[in-house]
Amino acid sequence: MSLKMSIHSLILFFALSCLSVQIIEAQLRVGFYSRSCPSAERIVREEVMKGFNKNRGVAPGLIRMHFHDCFVRGCDASILIDTTSSNNAEKDSPANSPSLRGFEVIDNAKARLEAQCKGVVSCADILTFAARDSVAITLGPRYAVQAGRRDGRISLMSEVLQDVPGFTFNVDQLTQSFLKKKLTQEEMVTLSGAHTIGRSHCTSITNRLYNFNGTTGPDPTLDSRYAGRLQQQCPQGSASTLVVPMDTRTPFITDVNYYRDVLANRGLFTSDQTLLTNSNTAKEVSQNARNQFLWMRKFAAAMIKMGEIEVLTGSAGEIRTNCSVIN
Ligand code: HEM
Ligand SMILES: *[C@@H]1O[C@H](CO)[C@@H](O)[C@H](O)[C@H]1NC(C)=O
Ligand SMILES: *[C@@H]1O[C@H](CO)[C@@H](O)[C@H](O)[C@H]1NC(C)=O
Repeated sequence: MSLKMSIHSLILFFALSCLSVQIIEAQLRVGFYSRSCPSAERIVREEVMKGFNKNRGVAPGLIRMHFHDCFVRGCDASILIDTTSSNNAEKDSPANSPSLRGFEVIDNAKARLEAQCKGVVSCADILTFAARDSVAITLGPRYAVQAGRRDGRISLMSEVLQDVPGFTFNVDQLTQSFLKKKLTQEEMVTLSGAHTIGRSHCTSITNRLYNFNGTTGPDPTLDSRYAGRLQQQCPQGSASTLVVPMDTRTPFITDVNYYRDVLANRGLFTSDQTLLTNSNTAKEVSQNARNQFLWMRKFAAAMIKMGEIEVLTGSAGEIRTNCSVIN
């Protein structure tokens, strides 16, 4: 009887521990590859540095790519999948094409990781590491990031504009868009600070420069000297390849100049300038502008949280062999 009891409790014990192992495995954690592929994070960091040394634009490119990946079907590398004859993928949405950049960094890292630890490191984790390393390489906050994401098998162009916020959004629309992904309004303001690096195509700002809202001139909330300069850089009907820096002073340094620009009515997009139209977001903009240390801390935490949106873990999804194609 007591033997039977203890056998039963032994079985129960093993059943429970298997269950808890599965639960642990199904979560993201820092150092996820420390045993299965110890050099994973180092290889990604090396490829980001290599790419950055060739073209500094890959850093902002990879940070934005991670954001657009996470907002559509979670951080599952769905953004990396190529369009096929039977499917238009996220990559080809106007929100992503032709503006996204840095894909070659992911592909180079993946090629090395497949050679070293075949079938182990997901494209979704590579992109998360690469975005984190891009923040660090532009002198932003350094942070540890969890891993264990799996790659999705679905990527639909038609879903992108439902989830990626538009540059004409006002503060309420932005707040809703982030809340839908379980990010707070404050995290939205914090993450918008990523616009301290990188560039924009003229096509994303011409709405503010010419015939704004049926007026004949630029957006009256845009500083007029800055508007004049942008009009020179982005002449009406200009080629769609023209770009302007997001932050004119330090376009490759992750600092709080973005917030200082917004306060000076020099935010590039409607979605930047609108942060001054709500008392809470306006307060956060000035707080961040004054306190870089505070913003860096909040930015790191918000990036980590963004990297956890709707992730696939455990045995969901797959580990793609080639980040551009479903296995
Ligand atoms: C709040 C809503 C947001 C809107 C409406 C928005 C919109 C845009 C637009 C229109 C561009 C210019 C793309 C181009 O024309 O080349 C851009 C660039 C960029 N965005 Fe955002 N964005 C938002 C939030 C974010 C977030 C949360 C991040 C990351 C945490 C981010 C990171 C970037 C970066 C780094 C660039 C520069 C890309 C490059 O240089 O290649 N943005 N964004
Ligand atoms: C656009 O113009 C209309 C009519 O003049 C006005 O009510 C509205 O507030 C303007 N919108 C913006 C974003 O300025
Ligand atoms: C990955 O797939 C894409 C699209 O089919 C192809 O162009 C590329 O060469 C592949 N990369 C590797 C390393 O096989």
